[in-house]
Amino acid sequence: METHDSISIDARAILGLQLPTDPRWVNLAERSLEDILSDHAYCEQKAAASCISLIQRYNQKEKLVISLAPIVTEEWGHFRLVLAELQKRNLKLGRQRKDEYANALFSFCQTGGAEEGRLLDQLLIMAMIEARSCERFKRLSEGLEDEYLRRFYRRFMESEAGHYTLFIDLAETYIDKEKVRKRWQEWLEHESNVISKLDVRGDRIH
Ligand SMILES: [Fe+2]
Ligand SMILES: [Fe+2]
Repeated sequence: METHDSISIDARAILGLQLPTDPRWVNLAERSLEDILSDHAYCEQKAAASCISLIQRYNQKEKLVISLAPIVTEEWGHFRLVLAELQKRNLKLGRQRKDEYANALFSFCQTGGAEEGRLLDQLLIMAMIEARSCERFKRLSEGLEDEYLRRFYRRFMESEAGHYTLFIDLAETYIDKEKVRKRWQEWLEHESNVISKLDVRGDRIH
């Protein structure tokens, strides 16, 4: 989905995320381009890998399998775009860092109980990470000095906006809408808590 305009993305962001990114972050990120591009590259890789895991785990859910199959390709394509950007700038893909943000979100996922609740959280954590990534890419697309990179991040922002709505849609396909809405609110609260406790660092997307 590449058709969202910035107004609708803003509206969705306001509806969703409770805490905007610290405005200092973009400037910090710009000063550590090799680190931020490397971290971004791994985010895309993890997004592709998580979609593959969901397909393997929920092979019998046809709509999930069919909708996530092209997302794997898209996320891997994103990884390649970021890798090419590193190469072009003579920068190196650094080591994968400990993902404190994602780990703090994972700890909120239900691991026991009914399958429905576990599926719901696995879809909502994906939606959550996509939504925050979308917001971060929007910041980069607006705040970076480099015009080429602003456009580069604008395309990622549009793409991730399509993804987080897809994960919510999938949740609503398999689980009662009211339950999805309620749990999503809990996720939003948890996420803003996590964000407020993390240091503002220019070498991480999250
Ligand atoms: Fe992506
Ligand atoms: Fe994505």
